[in-house]
Amino acid sequence: MEVNILCIGAGYVGGPGMAVLAQKCPHCRVTVVDIDAKRIAAWNSDSLPIYEPGLEEIVLQTRGRNLFFSTAIERGIRENDIIFVSVNAPTKTFGVGAGMAADLHYWEKTARQILKHSQSPKIVIEKSTLPVKTALAMERILKGVGSGINFEVLSNPEFMAEGTAIKDLEYPERVLIGSRETESGLKARDTLVEIYLTWVPREKILTSNIWSSELSKLVANAFLAQRISSINAISALCEKTEADVGEVAKAVGMDSRIGPKFLQASVGFGGSCFKKDILNLVYLCRHYSLEEVAAYWESVVRINEYQQERFILNMLQAMFNTLSGKKICLLGFAFKANTGDTRESPAIFIARRLLEEKAEIVISDPHALTNARCDMEGVEGRISYEGNPYDALRGCHAIAVLTEWEQYRSLDFQNIFEGMVKPAFIFDGRNILDHQRCFDIGFNVYPVGKPPLTHF
Ligand code: NAD
Ligand code: UGA
Repeated sequence: MEVNILCIGAGYVGGPGMAVLAQKCPHCRVTVVDIDAKRIAAWNSDSLPIYEPGLEEIVLQTRGRNLFFSTAIERGIRENDIIFVSVNAPTKTFGVGAGMAADLHYWEKTARQILKHSQSPKIVIEKSTLPVKTALAMERILKGVGSGINFEVLSNPEFMAEGTAIKDLEYPERVLIGSRETESGLKARDTLVEIYLTWVPREKILTSNIWSSELSKLVANAFLAQRISSINAISALCEKTEADVGEVAKAVGMDSRIGPKFLQASVGFGGSCFKKDILNLVYLCRHYSLEEVAAYWESVVRINEYQQERFILNMLQAMFNTLSGKKICLLGFAFKANTGDTRESPAIFIARRLLEEKAEIVISDPHALTNARCDMEGVEGRISYEGNPYDALRGCHAIAVLTEWEQYRSLDFQNIFEGMVKPAFIFDGRNILDHQRCFDIGFNVYPVGKPPLTHF
């Protein structure tokens, strides 16, 4: 029997998520809708709106077969009984909770739209990351007017990471499905479990109550970000004590209770979710008067800001306390490797701060220059964009490595050094380069959390 599935929101989650679902479940007909007509047109074109390794192949296999991208939201709601909602819920910029709470207006709009256009029972699945109890608001909107139609709301948060989205979706470590523990809630849950069972082993499908599911997603992101802030805080101490943060992370991570992952010191974490989700958690704690708990999680975000500012101060200090008129190349602008996404990328902060110091910047990235241009629109200063790193680096005083793109490791640094202004500096915000070799070539090298290698 054909299963008709709709996904509202064709972004970084909706697009890859539904492409993998369509590939794994040929018996499902999957339609992805969005209010952004340009984004839908891009999904239907040869040039997809997001860069994600492996995505294009899957879209080419499934698009027009059992995967469809469309702007016909109302028709989509009418014709499909299983509806994933993966619209964005960014941090509120106005009113109560501004800068902290989730802005749920896209979400509520979607709920009202589902209510208005439904003619048959629906299972509505929260895929977006949302504050605990959002499902209750959703239920109240859907069930409040007595339309006579049965709506079941499930929480099924997404745990994929960008850059590895396809592998994460094909082989998830777990799939979490939260439901109401009523007869109809459990039945809806079983329907979704059945879909995932097509490609996910049963033992990896976790079921829980709906509030645990909503909260688990916020907590998972908070824990991940907390590890990065923990190692970044230690990187500051390493820089004062001649310890090497890489060696410390290795020694600490070999304890199986701690584990080695997510201990890579860096210029700071970025991405659209960590900061937003932690602030959301902080807001929730404050709402329930848990001030100490709120302060604990808020510090994870504060350390991340501190780490980015520290990176700038280190550059300033190393380059004789003035960056004015100096040309600095940002190698990498995406918030991590293997994505073109620049949302909340530390590179945006670094670029703005360098311009404030009156430096000239050259931005280079293999996949993120279009987004970088949008991010820097309207920012005053001398900015240029150059895809080829060798062209970008010619005539520069310093290199700031801000994204851990694999290709940066194997650049010809001898050649690059020759074309740069001396003394030439490298600030490796990702600790990916061969620092000793760069030093031997003649660079002054400043890693994160390791002793600098300088010729002074
Ligand atoms: P996104 O901004 O890339 O995509 C959201 C899409 O929803 C946009 O294309 C927007 O136009 C559309 N939209 C908004 N309101 C709409 C409406 N009323 N009707 C139809 N479409 C509408 O966001 P994203 O990165 O895909 O994230 C979506 C959610 O998933 C967020 O809650 C995020 O926290 C969560 N999440 C994201 C990731 C990730 O890696 N990006 C991973 C896990 C979870
Ligand atoms: C993160 C989570 O890893 C996903 O599980 C989650 O689904 C997703 O957020 C979400 O909810 O949006 P993502 O932001 O795509 O995924 O990428 P991560 O690999 O988590 O990296 C986030 C940031 O932390 C990047 O800027 C990365 O460079 C940085 N990072 C990561 C470090 O600085 N050090 C590390 O050791 C690991």
